[in-house]
Order: sequence, then structure tokens, then C-alpha cells
Amino acid sequence: MSVSERIRTLRAEIERHNRQYFDLDAPLISDAEYDQLFRELQALEAEHPQLLSADSPTQRVGAAPLSEFATVAHATPMLSLNNAFAEAEVAAFDRRVREGLAAIGEVEYAAEPKFDGLAISLNYEQGVLVRGATRGDGATGEDVTANLRTVRSIPLHLQGSGWPAVLEVRGEVLMWRSDFERMNARQREHAEKEFVNPRNAAAGSLRQLDPRITARRPLRFFAYGVGGIAATGLPATHSVLLDRLAEWGFPVAPERRRVTGLTGLIAYYVEIARRRESLPYAIDGVVYKVDDLAAQERLGFVSRAPRFAIAHKFPAEEAVTELLDISIQVGRTGALTPVARLAPVFVGGVTVTNATLHNEDEVLRKDLCIGDTVVVRRAGDVIPEVVRVLPERRPAVARRFVMPPTCPVCGSQVVRHPDEAVARCSGGLYCPAQRKQALLHFASRRALDIEGLGDKLVEQLVECGIVRTPADLYRLGLLALANLERMAEKSAGNLLASIEQSKQTTLARFIYALGIRNVGEATARDLARHFGSLDRLLAADEGQLLQVPDVGPIVAQCLRQFFDEPHNLEVIEQLRAAGVAWHDSEPSAQTVSAVAGKVFVLTGTLPSLTRDAAKAMLEAAGGKVTGSVSKKTDFVVAGTEAGSKLEKARLLGVKVIDEEQLLAVLNTGPAAP
Ligand code: IVH
Repeated sequence: MSVSERIRTLRAEIERHNRQYFDLDAPLISDAEYDQLFRELQALEAEHPQLLSADSPTQRVGAAPLSEFATVAHATPMLSLNNAFAEAEVAAFDRRVREGLAAIGEVEYAAEPKFDGLAISLNYEQGVLVRGATRGDGATGEDVTANLRTVRSIPLHLQGSGWPAVLEVRGEVLMWRSDFERMNARQREHAEKEFVNPRNAAAGSLRQLDPRITARRPLRFFAYGVGGIAATGLPATHSVLLDRLAEWGFPVAPERRRVTGLTGLIAYYVEIARRRESLPYAIDGVVYKVDDLAAQERLGFVSRAPRFAIAHKFPAEEAVTELLDISIQVGRTGALTPVARLAPVFVGGVTVTNATLHNEDEVLRKDLCIGDTVVVRRAGDVIPEVVRVLPERRPAVARRFVMPPTCPVCGSQVVRHPDEAVARCSGGLYCPAQRKQALLHFASRRALDIEGLGDKLVEQLVECGIVRTPADLYRLGLLALANLERMAEKSAGNLLASIEQSKQTTLARFIYALGIRNVGEATARDLARHFGSLDRLLAADEGQLLQVPDVGPIVAQCLRQFFDEPHNLEVIEQLRAAGVAWHDSEPSAQTVSAVAGKVFVLTGTLPSLTRDAAKAMLEAAGGKVTGSVSKKTDFVVAGTEAGSKLEKARLLGVKVIDEEQLLAVLNTGPAAP
């Protein structure tokens, strides 16, 4: 692309964004991105002055006013400020000012916040507000007098004395953050559209054709100067001028200050940057102005901006970038978090490449697709976040995000409880992402109580791959341990001894040690007491789990999901094989029998019981009665003339009992037939 083509493209792009921003209050790109386009155009035009033309967006400010409002020609153009981001740019500004003024010493500056609102001009005649206008394109703006009269911090009559007969005050209309939050809450209540930020809310409110609507919006005003009307009797410096404006009834920034030289400017910037988040209104930088008004006049203007002032902007807190992918992070507790992988973008002073998307619902709510262009925000020390998508920039190839059905780290089933926003990996004992957490919990004092197995050691054992699951602990040898950093032979020996000791435990501790979600010590004790053996617990369905005191549907579901994950069962088997053991007890009488959780098939004619009666009795005791014999069948109850089912039972090695044995089981409870 030739330089002139690039210039033409840039101009068209910038004009389009001007209209989006100024006319439609619907910016498509961030300020920083816009600034970048603008600076590129400025640079090209400076390099190739023959290509500069009067209709370039660099030669004017903003876009045309909306047609519905009357247009107002500003007595002197409302220009904008040049921006500085780096300290060197501020130093260059200060140097230019000193050179321009042939100053011998340091220059006095008036420093003030750069309000993030909308520039307006207020005309007073004989102390009465006669007209208020927006900046518009800088030369002409919109007559929004009726709307501005509703803004309570704008004086309708000047107060005090000494004001000139004709006065044009310039300043910024904005919305305080707290007012903005309240207003958006109200919009939400009335099911009306919410505003993106206080600046857009202020712009939208000021642009209302019906001033009654504006009146209900919490707009405020800060004055930062006067228009170019040659007013007699104005003070000699900008800072005293603002003092006067305050006396006449205008709000001025309490944070404004007179500072000396470059060091004064930078110190002011640092202070305001630190206080930024605690200010009640949004600012996007600070503004430095040569304090002496006569000196300002001597320095004058160059194209669109004054030479006597500059905006020292904070790093942009919002930027536009591409959502390259959404990946899944598995946390220490098994929570699956979608993470936005972003094309690197400089925002809030750092380069951002990732942002958490919290959970699946958040991705849906924000309507994010992989391939989208998104607005990313990072304010101060705050973690970067994806604020919103730019739907108009969605490419055809964009694709929706779906939560994977299995854990990307270990392949275990992913589960999400209906009342929870978070999806979790169910392979708690097995999943590498949850390893350290699982091991620490397993070894903790109230679980299997393995003394000496602390944070650091678990970290080492996992990092060097010696231990992956709790079962691996029981395979540790002196050699492997002694080779670890900072591990003396004696402490290795002690650790092995306490691992050995931990093998003798109780069922309650063992259940607790598994680290099943929502299963704390008390629940583990209840489960142990109720079922008496691990196998009975493993075999219990949700209905049977619900019979345990204090076990509700969520805990029952967590238990089932944990035991349904084959990876977890594998580890449990390995633990038992390693010799982890306890004394099984009788299950508590009221609910569990030997029948509980067992699968029965009835076949043939029983001597006294009807088939229905036998079925009812078995089910009442917690058993399950099915129609056909399989490997899952625990008992076949056979009467006379039993046919193919009996045969199949024999074939599969399923235990066959008769009515007498069945009744014995039902009466004697736990003793297995
Ligand atoms: S002085 C000749 N002071 O920033 C321009 N402007 O890019 C004199 N702004 O549209 C402007 N806070 O609306 C000045 N304390 C402040 C300001 C401020 C915000 C806005 C202003 C203007 C833009 C300049």
C-alpha cells in the first residue's frame, strides 16, 4: 500500500470512529487504538506535508453535531489537548514551553485532573446563563441549554461579584461513579438498557432531546477555564482564575494545584495516579497548563491544540484485542475455569495475554465466541478482565465455547451441580492438578495423620514424579526419599514409619481422607456409622445415601459422582491393597441390612412367598430386584421350576439361594448368606 493510500484509509477509518464516538456514543475501538490510528496519520502527514489536506481529521476535532439540536458557533474554537504518555514527552513539553517563553528558571504550572466526561461551553450575560453548548466539532456545537439548566451544579446566576458582563465558562459534564451505579441499577429495574461507563452515560443523558429525561440523570459539572472572549478584569493566572470561578458558583476540582517545573508536574501525576481510584469521578489523566495567562497567549496554538497545555494521560485501562482461544484451567480443588487467551495487548500499563472468564455462565452472559474481538480492561492492580464483545466485528469462523465433558488434565468426568456455577473434575484422588491438595488433605492430622508429610515435601514428591496418588505414598522406599533435597536419612526413616503407622485407621478417617467435596469429618463419621463397611458405602445409591442423617441431595450426589469415577475407585483399591485397613463395624440397625445395595433376581416358584411379596421385602431392606441375571447380580433366589435364569447364574458364578436362606438374611440383618 502506498503512503497516500494508507493516509486515505486512515482518514476514512478515523472519520468513521469519530461518528461512532461523537454522534452515536457507540465506540467500536478503544481510545488507545484510536490514538494509535490518529498518531500514525499525524506522523505520515508530518513526513509528507504535500499530502496534508484541510479535510483531514487531524485538522479538526470530533464530528458534526446531531441534526436535531440547533447548532451553535463557538466564539473561539473549542480545541483539544495534545497527549503525553511517557515522562519524556512531558519533559519535551516543558522544554518547549521554556524555550517558547525564553524562560530563565522553572515555569509555574497549574495542574488539574483530566475529567473523563464531555466538554461544554456556558455563556453568561450580565451574570445569567443564556446558552450552553457541546463541543461538537470544535467550531460548532449543539445547543443543549435546556438540558444544561437541569444540571444542578451549573449556576443559573453567577454569585459573588467582580464577574465580567460577558463570560464563557468551559468545563466538563460528567457523572460520579456512585451516581452511575445507582442509575444503572434503576435502568435494570425498569428493564431498560444499561450504560457501559459513566462517560457514555453522561453523553447519552446530555444528548436527550427531552430535557425532562436529562433532569432525572445525575449529571455534574466541573469548570476548567474560560472561553476566548476577551473579558476585562480577569486575573493574571489560571489558578487564580479558577479561584474566581469557584467564588462565582462553579465547581472546580479540589485536587487542582500550582506546581513548579518538570519535577512538580511528575510529582503531581504520581500523586493523582495513586488517588485515582478513590476519586468520586473518572479521570483519564492530568492536565498541565502554563499558569500565567499572558504567557499562555504568547505561546498560542499549533493546529488543533494549545502549546501552553498538555494532557498527561494514564495508560489506557481498556483496549481492544482478539480472543484467540478459551482454554480450561483446573484448580487445586478441581474447579474448571475457562481462561481467555488473548492476542497480547498493552492495557493499564502492562501487556495482557490471559484473562479469567470465571465460569461457563459468564462466557454465555458475555456472549463470547472464540475469534471475537473483545474489550479488555485492567485498572490499577486489578486482574485483567474481558469486559464485552464487539459483535459487529465477529468473524464468520467464530465458534462457541463448550465446557469439555472430561477433565483436560486427567480425563475424569466433569460434573456441575445444578445450584453451582462451577464445573468440577470428579477425579479428586487421581487428577494431577489436584494432586498436591489431595495428598495434603489425605495426610492431614484428622485424616490419615501422616506426620512429617507437609507442604514442602508434597511439593517435592509431586514435582519429581515419585508420588501421584495417595496410594503411591505406601510404595515409597528409603532410597527414593533420601535422594530428595533437604531430606536426611533419619527424617526419611521417620516419615516411612508414620506412613506405615497410618495404615491402621478407621473407616470414618478413611472416608474423610478421600477429600470428597462436601464430605467433612462429621459426614464421614455418619457415613461410617451408617454403612459400617466401605463396600456397603460404595454400593449405596443416592436413595440409600439420603437415609444417612445429615446427608442431603448435594452430598449424596457428590459421593456418587466420586465413587462413579473409575479413577478414584482404582486409587481406593490400591490403598486397600497397600494394607490401609480398619475394623468394619455393624451398620446401624435401622436402615441397612445385608440386602442393602445388593442386586437380586427371583426365579421359579417359592414355597411360601409370592414373587411380589419377596420383591417388596427385599426392596424394603434396601435391596434391588431386577428381571435378568448378569455379572452385576449378587444373588439369584431360586424356587421350583427355575429355568434359564438359574442356568445363567450357575454359568456366571452368581450365588444362588432358596427361600429359607432369603428369610434368614432378611431377619438376621447384616450377616451375608
Ligand atoms: S483544558 C484548549 N482542562 O480534555 C483546550 N481540558 O483533549 C483546553 N478536559 O475536550 C482544555 N479535563 O474537555 C482542560 N482539566 C481540564 C480537562 C480538560 C478534561 C477535556 C476537555 C477537552 C479535552 C482535551
